[in-house]
Amino acid sequence: MEDNKKTLLEIEDLDVIYQTDLETVHAVNGISFSMKQGETLGLVGETGAGKSTTALSILRLLAENTGKIRKGKILFNGENILDMNKLELQCLRGEKISMIFQDPMTSLNPVLTVGKQIAEVLELHNQKHLSAHQIEERVDEMLRLVGISSERKHDYPHQFSGGMKQRVVIAIALACQPQLLIADEPTTALDVTIQAQVIDMMEKLKSQLNTSMILITHDLGIVAEICDNVAIMYAGEIIERGTVYDIFENEDHHPYTEGLFGSIPRLDDETDRLKPIKGLMPDPTRLPEGCKFSPRCPKCMEICKKEQPPACRKGTHEICCHLYRKNDEK
Ligand SMILES: Nc1ncnc2c1ncn2[C@@H]1O[C@H](COP(=O)(O)OP(=O)(O)OP(=O)(O)O)[C@@H](O)[C@H]1O
Ligand SMILES: [Mg+2]
Repeated sequence: MEDNKKTLLEIEDLDVIYQTDLETVHAVNGISFSMKQGETLGLVGETGAGKSTTALSILRLLAENTGKIRKGKILFNGENILDMNKLELQCLRGEKISMIFQDPMTSLNPVLTVGKQIAEVLELHNQKHLSAHQIEERVDEMLRLVGISSERKHDYPHQFSGGMKQRVVIAIALACQPQLLIADEPTTALDVTIQAQVIDMMEKLKSQLNTSMILITHDLGIVAEICDNVAIMYAGEIIERGTVYDIFENEDHHPYTEGLFGSIPRLDDETDRLKPIKGLMPDPTRLPEGCKFSPRCPKCMEICKKEQPPACRKGTHEICCHLYRKNDEK
Protein backbone atom coordinates (compact mmCIF):
# COMPACT_ATOMS: atom_id res chain seq x y z
CA MET A 1 0.00 0.00 0.00
CA GLU A 2 2.88 2.34 0.85
CA ASP A 3 4.14 2.11 -2.70
CA ASN A 4 0.88 3.26 -4.26
CA LYS A 5 1.20 6.64 -2.62
CA LYS A 6 2.14 9.55 -4.85
CA THR A 7 5.61 11.02 -4.65
CA LEU A 8 5.21 14.54 -3.30
CA LEU A 9 8.72 15.90 -3.10
CA GLU A 10 11.86 14.84 -4.88
CA ILE A 11 15.19 16.51 -4.28
CA GLU A 12 17.96 15.61 -6.68
CA ASP A 13 21.61 16.44 -6.17
CA LEU A 14 20.95 19.74 -4.41
CA ASP A 15 23.97 21.94 -3.81
CA VAL A 16 23.71 25.17 -1.81
CA ILE A 17 26.42 27.65 -0.86
CA TYR A 18 26.53 30.91 1.06
CA GLN A 19 28.86 33.31 -0.69
CA THR A 20 30.29 36.09 1.42
CA ASP A 21 33.01 38.56 0.43
CA LEU A 22 35.66 36.51 2.11
CA GLU A 23 34.60 32.92 1.73
CA THR A 24 32.28 30.27 0.34
CA VAL A 25 30.31 28.21 2.85
CA HIS A 26 29.43 24.79 1.42
CA ALA A 27 26.20 24.33 3.36
CA VAL A 28 24.47 21.58 1.35
CA ASN A 29 26.55 19.30 -0.83
CA GLY A 30 24.64 17.24 -3.37
CA ILE A 31 21.81 15.78 -1.34
CA SER A 32 18.99 13.67 -2.80
CA PHE A 33 15.86 12.32 -1.20
CA SER A 34 12.20 11.91 -1.96
CA MET A 35 9.05 11.66 0.08
CA LYS A 36 5.55 10.39 -0.52
CA GLN A 37 2.22 11.97 0.29
CA GLY A 38 1.28 11.59 3.95
CA GLU A 39 4.82 10.68 4.96
CA THR A 40 6.75 12.22 7.84
CA LEU A 41 10.47 12.53 7.24
CA GLY A 42 12.84 13.29 10.10
CA LEU A 43 15.88 15.36 9.11
CA VAL A 44 18.48 14.90 11.82
CA GLY A 45 22.00 16.16 12.39
CA GLU A 46 24.11 18.31 14.65
CA THR A 47 24.26 22.08 14.45
CA GLY A 48 25.51 23.43 11.12
CA ALA A 49 24.77 20.21 9.22
CA GLY A 50 22.65 22.09 6.65
CA LYS A 51 19.15 21.13 7.81
CA SER A 52 17.65 24.63 7.81
CA THR A 53 19.42 25.46 4.55
CA THR A 54 17.75 22.44 2.94
CA ALA A 55 14.35 23.56 4.27
CA LEU A 56 14.80 27.17 3.17
CA SER A 57 15.88 26.01 -0.30
CA ILE A 58 12.60 24.11 -0.73
CA LEU A 59 10.70 27.36 -0.16
CA ARG A 60 13.32 29.45 -2.02
CA LEU A 61 13.79 31.57 1.10
CA LEU A 62 17.58 31.54 1.33
CA ALA A 63 19.34 34.73 2.45
CA GLU A 64 18.90 36.88 -0.63
CA ASN A 65 22.39 38.09 -1.42
CA THR A 66 24.47 35.27 -0.05
CA GLY A 67 22.50 32.02 -0.38
CA LYS A 68 22.80 30.37 -3.79
CA ILE A 69 21.47 27.10 -5.13
CA ARG A 70 24.30 25.97 -7.35
CA LYS A 71 22.73 22.89 -8.85
CA GLY A 72 20.04 20.30 -8.44
CA LYS A 73 16.30 19.96 -8.72
CA ILE A 74 13.49 20.30 -6.20
CA LEU A 75 10.42 18.68 -7.70
CA PHE A 76 7.12 19.25 -5.91
CA ASN A 77 4.29 17.25 -7.49
CA GLY A 78 6.65 16.85 -10.45
CA GLU A 79 7.26 20.60 -10.93
CA ASN A 80 10.70 22.07 -10.36
CA ILE A 81 10.48 24.73 -7.65
CA LEU A 82 13.79 26.13 -8.89
CA ASP A 83 12.14 27.09 -12.20
CA MET A 84 9.17 28.87 -10.62
CA ASN A 85 8.58 32.62 -11.01
CA LYS A 86 7.60 34.99 -8.19
CA LEU A 87 3.87 34.48 -8.62
CA GLU A 88 4.17 30.69 -8.67
CA LEU A 89 6.32 30.82 -5.56
CA GLN A 90 3.77 32.99 -3.81
CA CYS A 91 1.09 30.36 -4.49
CA LEU A 92 3.40 27.63 -3.29
CA ARG A 93 4.35 29.22 0.01
CA GLY A 94 1.80 28.89 2.75
CA GLU A 95 -0.76 27.32 0.47
CA LYS A 96 0.98 24.14 -0.68
CA ILE A 97 4.07 24.12 1.49
CA SER A 98 4.29 25.91 4.79
CA MET A 99 7.03 26.19 7.31
CA ILE A 100 7.33 26.57 11.05
CA PHE A 101 10.57 28.47 11.47
CA GLN A 102 13.38 27.54 13.83
CA ASP A 103 12.48 30.30 16.28
CA PRO A 104 8.68 30.12 16.36
CA MET A 105 8.36 32.29 19.45
CA THR A 106 9.37 35.32 17.43
CA SER A 107 7.33 34.54 14.32
CA LEU A 108 4.11 35.98 15.75
CA ASN A 109 3.31 39.65 15.30
CA PRO A 110 3.01 41.26 18.77
CA VAL A 111 0.56 43.96 17.68
CA LEU A 112 -2.06 41.73 16.03
CA THR A 113 -4.49 39.39 17.77
CA VAL A 114 -3.83 35.73 17.08
CA GLY A 115 -7.19 35.44 15.31
CA LYS A 116 -6.22 38.21 12.92
CA GLN A 117 -2.90 36.49 12.22
CA ILE A 118 -4.58 33.22 11.26
CA ALA A 119 -7.17 35.10 9.18
CA GLU A 120 -4.40 36.96 7.30
CA VAL A 121 -3.02 33.75 5.84
CA LEU A 122 -6.48 32.67 4.75
CA GLU A 123 -7.15 36.06 3.15
CA LEU A 124 -3.82 36.02 1.33
CA HIS A 125 -4.41 32.58 -0.16
CA ASN A 126 -8.15 32.78 -0.61
CA GLN A 127 -8.37 30.27 -3.44
CA LYS A 128 -11.79 29.04 -2.37
CA HIS A 129 -13.16 32.61 -2.21
CA LEU A 130 -14.25 32.31 1.38
CA SER A 131 -16.44 35.11 2.72
CA ALA A 132 -15.40 37.11 5.79
CA HIS A 133 -17.78 35.01 7.86
CA GLN A 134 -16.36 31.75 6.52
CA ILE A 135 -12.84 32.94 7.27
CA GLU A 136 -13.90 33.71 10.81
CA GLU A 137 -15.33 30.20 11.15
CA ARG A 138 -12.15 28.70 9.81
CA VAL A 139 -10.08 30.67 12.35
CA ASP A 140 -12.22 29.20 15.15
CA GLU A 141 -11.84 25.73 13.68
CA MET A 142 -8.05 26.03 13.41
CA LEU A 143 -7.75 27.19 17.00
CA ARG A 144 -9.91 24.33 18.23
CA LEU A 145 -7.84 21.92 16.14
CA VAL A 146 -4.69 22.91 18.03
CA GLY A 147 -6.49 22.73 21.36
CA ILE A 148 -7.13 26.43 22.02
CA SER A 149 -10.59 27.76 22.75
CA SER A 150 -11.84 29.94 19.89
CA GLU A 151 -12.66 32.77 22.30
CA ARG A 152 -8.94 33.36 22.69
CA LYS A 153 -8.73 34.63 19.11
CA HIS A 154 -9.17 38.19 20.39
CA ASP A 155 -6.05 37.92 22.54
CA TYR A 156 -2.55 39.10 21.66
CA PRO A 157 0.52 36.80 21.58
CA HIS A 158 1.88 38.11 24.92
CA GLN A 159 -1.27 36.78 26.61
CA PHE A 160 -0.35 33.21 25.64
CA SER A 161 2.12 30.81 27.22
CA GLY A 162 5.09 29.50 25.20
CA GLY A 163 3.37 26.22 24.37
CA MET A 164 0.20 28.00 23.28
CA LYS A 165 2.14 30.43 21.10
CA GLN A 166 3.72 27.43 19.45
CA ARG A 167 0.26 25.95 18.81
CA VAL A 168 -0.85 29.23 17.24
CA VAL A 169 2.19 29.13 14.95
CA ILE A 170 1.20 25.59 13.94
CA ALA A 171 -2.42 26.71 13.39
CA ILE A 172 -1.17 29.47 11.06
CA ALA A 173 1.04 27.00 9.20
CA LEU A 174 -1.85 24.59 8.73
CA ALA A 175 -4.60 27.15 8.02
CA CYS A 176 -4.48 26.63 4.24
CA GLN A 177 -4.14 22.87 4.62
CA PRO A 178 -0.76 22.66 2.91
CA GLN A 179 0.32 19.39 1.37
CA LEU A 180 3.70 19.69 3.03
CA LEU A 181 4.59 21.14 6.41
CA ILE A 182 8.24 21.82 7.17
CA ALA A 183 8.78 22.08 10.91
CA ASP A 184 12.27 23.35 11.78
CA GLU A 185 12.96 22.38 15.41
CA PRO A 186 9.35 23.15 16.37
CA THR A 187 9.75 22.17 20.01
CA THR A 188 13.30 23.19 20.87
CA ALA A 189 12.24 26.34 22.72
CA LEU A 190 9.67 24.51 24.84
CA ASP A 191 10.00 22.66 28.10
CA VAL A 192 9.69 18.89 28.04
CA THR A 193 6.05 18.49 29.05
CA ILE A 194 4.86 21.09 26.57
CA GLN A 195 7.13 19.51 23.96
CA ALA A 196 5.30 16.24 24.42
CA GLN A 197 1.92 17.95 24.07
CA VAL A 198 2.92 19.76 20.90
CA ILE A 199 4.37 16.58 19.37
CA ASP A 200 1.22 14.68 20.31
CA MET A 201 -0.89 17.32 18.68
CA MET A 202 1.21 17.38 15.52
CA GLU A 203 0.81 13.63 15.23
CA LYS A 204 -2.96 13.92 15.53
CA LEU A 205 -3.10 16.69 12.95
CA LYS A 206 -0.99 14.67 10.58
CA SER A 207 -3.44 11.79 10.63
CA GLN A 208 -6.50 14.06 10.47
CA LEU A 209 -5.33 16.21 7.59
CA ASN A 210 -2.97 13.73 5.86
CA THR A 211 -0.30 16.44 5.72
CA SER A 212 3.19 15.32 4.78
CA MET A 213 5.84 16.64 7.08
CA ILE A 214 9.57 17.25 7.19
CA LEU A 215 10.52 17.39 10.83
CA ILE A 216 13.92 18.92 11.52
CA THR A 217 15.30 18.07 14.92
CA HIS A 218 18.28 16.81 16.83
CA ASP A 219 16.01 14.88 19.14
CA LEU A 220 16.13 11.23 18.12
CA GLY A 221 13.36 10.41 20.61
CA ILE A 222 10.89 12.60 18.72
CA VAL A 223 12.01 11.06 15.44
CA ALA A 224 11.36 7.54 16.73
CA GLU A 225 7.94 8.59 17.91
CA ILE A 226 6.49 10.24 14.85
CA CYS A 227 8.61 9.77 11.73
CA ASP A 228 8.16 7.17 9.00
CA ASN A 229 11.55 7.79 7.44
CA VAL A 230 14.76 9.37 8.62
CA ALA A 231 17.62 11.16 6.85
CA ILE A 232 20.78 11.87 8.81
CA MET A 233 22.82 14.86 7.70
CA TYR A 234 26.47 15.58 8.31
CA ALA A 235 28.44 18.50 6.85
CA GLY A 236 25.84 19.18 4.17
CA GLU A 237 25.39 15.57 3.08
CA ILE A 238 22.87 12.86 3.85
CA ILE A 239 25.11 10.13 5.20
CA GLU A 240 22.42 7.62 6.14
CA ARG A 241 18.73 7.26 5.47
CA GLY A 242 16.02 4.68 5.76
CA THR A 243 12.78 3.85 7.47
CA VAL A 244 12.49 4.49 11.18
CA TYR A 245 13.01 0.72 11.65
CA ASP A 246 16.22 0.78 9.56
CA ILE A 247 17.58 3.54 11.79
CA PHE A 248 16.37 2.37 15.18
CA GLU A 249 16.28 -1.43 14.90
CA ASN A 250 19.06 -2.27 12.49
CA GLU A 251 22.60 -3.04 13.66
CA ASP A 252 24.34 -1.51 10.64
CA HIS A 253 24.96 2.21 10.81
CA HIS A 254 27.20 4.96 9.62
CA PRO A 255 29.80 5.57 12.36
CA TYR A 256 28.39 9.09 12.74
CA THR A 257 24.90 7.70 13.43
CA GLU A 258 26.43 5.31 15.97
CA GLY A 259 28.01 8.36 17.58
CA LEU A 260 24.66 10.15 17.67
CA PHE A 261 23.05 7.21 19.44
CA GLY A 262 26.00 6.97 21.81
CA SER A 263 25.42 10.54 22.91
CA ILE A 264 21.86 9.90 24.15
CA PRO A 265 21.60 9.22 27.88
CA ARG A 266 20.51 5.67 28.75
CA LEU A 267 19.29 4.53 32.12
CA ASP A 268 20.56 0.98 31.64
CA ASP A 269 24.11 2.07 30.85
CA GLU A 270 26.25 1.08 33.80
CA THR A 271 29.17 3.27 32.84
CA ASP A 272 26.83 6.18 33.52
CA ARG A 273 28.66 8.36 31.03
CA LEU A 274 27.67 9.75 27.67
CA LYS A 275 29.94 9.06 24.74
CA PRO A 276 30.14 12.32 22.83
CA ILE A 277 31.45 12.28 19.28
CA LYS A 278 35.01 13.56 19.52
CA GLY A 279 36.03 16.63 17.56
CA LEU A 280 33.97 19.13 15.63
CA MET A 281 32.18 19.20 12.32
CA PRO A 282 34.58 20.37 9.59
CA ASP A 283 34.72 24.02 8.65
CA PRO A 284 32.19 24.31 5.80
CA THR A 285 34.49 26.70 3.96
CA ARG A 286 37.22 24.06 3.87
CA LEU A 287 35.69 20.61 3.69
CA PRO A 288 38.06 17.63 3.85
CA GLU A 289 38.57 15.32 0.88
CA GLY A 290 36.96 11.92 0.87
CA CYS A 291 34.45 11.21 3.62
CA LYS A 292 33.64 14.42 5.53
CA PHE A 293 33.38 12.46 8.77
CA SER A 294 36.79 10.77 8.35
CA PRO A 295 38.74 13.17 10.63
CA ARG A 296 36.42 12.25 13.54
CA CYS A 297 35.66 8.65 12.62
CA PRO A 298 36.87 5.93 15.00
CA LYS A 299 36.70 3.42 12.11
CA CYS A 300 38.50 5.56 9.54
CA MET A 301 40.46 3.66 6.85
CA GLU A 302 42.99 4.97 4.31
CA ILE A 303 40.42 5.08 1.52
CA CYS A 304 38.08 7.25 3.62
CA LYS A 305 40.54 10.15 3.52
CA LYS A 306 40.74 10.07 -0.27
CA GLU A 307 37.49 8.89 -1.78
CA GLN A 308 33.97 10.11 -1.27
CA PRO A 309 32.06 7.02 -0.08
CA PRO A 310 29.28 5.79 -2.37
CA ALA A 311 25.73 5.19 -1.14
CA CYS A 312 25.50 1.53 -0.13
CA ARG A 313 21.93 0.23 -0.21
CA LYS A 314 20.28 -2.67 1.49
CA GLY A 315 16.55 -2.56 0.79
CA THR A 316 15.27 0.77 2.04
CA HIS A 317 18.40 1.45 4.09
CA GLU A 318 21.20 3.54 2.58
CA ILE A 319 24.55 4.23 4.23
CA CYS A 320 27.28 6.37 2.66
CA CYS A 321 30.33 4.70 4.15
CA HIS A 322 33.26 2.70 2.75
CA LEU A 323 32.73 0.09 5.47
CA TYR A 324 29.56 -1.11 3.79
CA ARG A 325 30.90 -1.42 0.26
CA LYS A 326 30.82 -4.94 -1.03
CA ASN A 327 34.31 -6.46 -1.01
CA ASP A 328 34.66 -6.54 -4.77
CA GLU A 329 33.95 -2.82 -5.03
CA LYS A 330 36.69 -1.78 -2.65
N1 LIG B 1 23.05 33.38 5.90
C1 LIG B 1 24.17 32.65 6.02
N2 LIG B 1 25.37 33.14 5.61
C2 LIG B 1 26.50 32.41 5.71
N3 LIG B 1 26.55 31.15 6.21
C3 LIG B 1 25.39 30.61 6.62
C4 LIG B 1 24.14 31.33 6.57
N4 LIG B 1 23.16 30.52 7.07
C5 LIG B 1 23.75 29.35 7.42
N5 LIG B 1 25.09 29.40 7.15
C6 LIG B 1 26.07 28.32 7.36
O1 LIG B 1 25.64 27.19 6.61
C7 LIG B 1 25.88 25.98 7.32
C8 LIG B 1 24.57 25.22 7.46
O2 LIG B 1 23.70 25.96 8.30
P1 LIG B 1 22.21 25.54 8.65
O3 LIG B 1 21.57 26.69 9.33
O4 LIG B 1 21.54 25.00 7.44
O5 LIG B 1 22.47 24.35 9.69
P2 LIG B 1 21.45 23.55 10.61
O6 LIG B 1 21.69 22.10 10.34
O7 LIG B 1 20.07 24.05 10.42
O8 LIG B 1 21.99 23.89 12.08
P3 LIG B 1 21.18 24.14 13.46
O9 LIG B 1 20.88 22.78 14.02
O10 LIG B 1 22.14 24.90 14.30
O11 LIG B 1 19.95 24.91 13.15
C9 LIG B 1 26.50 26.40 8.65
O12 LIG B 1 27.90 26.26 8.55
C10 LIG B 1 26.09 27.84 8.80
O13 LIG B 1 27.06 28.56 9.55
MG1 LIG C 1 18.75 25.06 11.64
